[in-house]
Amino acid sequence: MKRTNIELTVNGRSHDVSVPPRMTLVDCLRDELRLTGTHVGCEHGVCGACSVLMDGAPIRSCLMFAVQAEGHEVTTVEGLADEDGTLSTIQDSFWENHAMQCGYCTPGMLIAGQALLAENSDPSEADIREAISGNLCRCTGYQQIVEAIAEDARRRFGEPGE
Ligand code: FES
Ligand code: FES
Repeated sequence: MKRTNIELTVNGRSHDVSVPPRMTLVDCLRDELRLTGTHVGCEHGVCGACSVLMDGAPIRSCLMFAVQAEGHEVTTVEGLADEDGTLSTIQDSFWENHAMQCGYCTPGMLIAGQALLAENSDPSEADIREAISGNLCRCTGYQQIVEAIAEDARRRFGEPGE
């Protein structure tokens, strides 16, 4: 099959990869770059498991071709942690609040929460629920995920009114 050479910037690093023109971004991340933290669920834009940040905005990497990501900054769940593996505050808040069961939705939920808090330092519960409304979780009932994102907002930005 014909392949195309592209340069992808993922988690701050540049990668030269050769991909079939119709390879999705999520397949490229997982199969070519071995960044398997981004999950594949529905493969048609419904579940949010494949969410990554592109230039800071959450997108569904199953709905993009890898070639379309050239020239953009992609951040996967691996890129939320420090280089040495230290969890980011949102990852730690999920841990502290037990905001996962099977964990399948978790990378997408972390990306959705990260994107929300980049724009809103004092989100209401409704804001958080809206931000994760495109991400399906079949296990948790969502409450602990909402609490984890709210806790991360407090940890990063302080209590409202402080
Ligand atoms: S796998 Fe992309 S939205 Fe479900
Ligand atoms: S923790 Fe299982 S799908 Fe969300």
